[in-house]
Amino acid sequence: MRAPKGMLDVLPPESSRWIDVVTRFASRAERFGYGLLLTPIVEHYEVFARVGETTDVVRKEMYDFVDRGGRRLALRPEGTAPVVRAFVQHRPATPWKVWYLAPNFRAEQPQAGRYRQHWQLGAEVIGIDDPDVDVEMIELLWGFCADLGLRNVRLLVNSMGDAESRTRYRDVLIDYWRAHAALIGGEMERADANPLRILDSKRPDWADMLERAPQLGEYLSDESAAHFARVQEGLQSLGISFEIAPRLVRGFDYYTSTVFELASGALDVAQNAIGGGGRYDRLAQEMGGPPAPSIGFGSGIERLLLACDAEGVLPAAVARLDAFVVDPGGSVDTVHLLAELRESGLAADRAYGNRPMKKQMAAADKAGARWAVILFEREAGRGMVVVRDLRSEDGAQQEVPRAEIAAWLRMRKDEAPS
Ligand code: HAM
Repeated sequence: MRAPKGMLDVLPPESSRWIDVVTRFASRAERFGYGLLLTPIVEHYEVFARVGETTDVVRKEMYDFVDRGGRRLALRPEGTAPVVRAFVQHRPATPWKVWYLAPNFRAEQPQAGRYRQHWQLGAEVIGIDDPDVDVEMIELLWGFCADLGLRNVRLLVNSMGDAESRTRYRDVLIDYWRAHAALIGGEMERADANPLRILDSKRPDWADMLERAPQLGEYLSDESAAHFARVQEGLQSLGISFEIAPRLVRGFDYYTSTVFELASGALDVAQNAIGGGGRYDRLAQEMGGPPAPSIGFGSGIERLLLACDAEGVLPAAVARLDAFVVDPGGSVDTVHLLAELRESGLAADRAYGNRPMKKQMAAADKAGARWAVILFEREAGRGMVVVRDLRSEDGAQQEVPRAEIAAWLRMRKDEAPS
């Protein structure tokens, strides 16, 4: 049996990097005043239907199904709609600042950096329209990537304006697409339904047409332009370098105003987004809640790690055991001693199944343990254990009182942390 196509298992020691990535994100998010939000992996179909009527992620790639009770449910394809659903349901005080870690499911054609299950770390601030929050969001993602050691990263920002700006722009854009109907061909229906979606196409034969397309920036209302200017000012004040990407419109129907993406220069262009997000000022209302302008981002853990690989940062941590308990006689004190060592904060392990001493020592070496603590019957009778330094050439060993062994090991660990 194999895992479903496009879905990955993460085994140790690779999984140690996941602990690292998640811990760094959690610590940063908590420092910024965000709390962890956990939502179900499935939602009612309608929760997502609203965010992506014109997007492939919802129309073609969503895993939706009818459950045993006849309810239509969907596996989460993205993280924002569930957060807004939870906000509308629970009505917490605003601004509501949350972060999350969750798997997402999209039935895409799998390739390196594009999977059918991917994990996102994300953050959202619900219920406040302040450009300084946009800056803080970007700062959170930017700083997190820096924490991981990533350097080859470009920040792209754009403004999709308010409803008024977008309506004016849509009309101009539809005219422009119609003038290029021959080239657009079968996609014309989509161009009419959501003219912005065509803008972020990566089709090489459209590159020229897209290059010359009218730009949203020219149609921003005064209010939208002022908001976007303040975002840029904030980023500059933090020394975060960015590029304005006039055709960055992002893939979901909910986006308004500021949008942004982090592109890794170390990854293949088709899958180089290691994070992205933006404002969605009307989604809460569209989902039946109060007006709650909001912003957030999601960042794919698999892609972050591919970028780390490409840049040679954040290697998998090699598990380091402090001690390996070896007991040739198979006494029950092994159980007790091991518990004692672990409770005192040492990383300790043993072999199981009453194996001969030689095999136990080989297991200690294989586990990369620093010390072997050997329970010989004779020494045990005198209240002593034998400690062997597994990193010394000549296998130097000495006796240590059984009662003091945990403290003895702790002292050496603290002296020379491995
Ligand atoms: P998204 O751009 O679709 O946005 O996904 C966010 C990130 O998830 C991407 O930048 C990428 O790193 C990763 N990702 C997406 N699809 C895949 C895939 N098939 N395989 C591997 N990684 C992938 C959202 O999902 C929005 N909910 C972000 C957001 C939050 N906007 C506002 N708040």
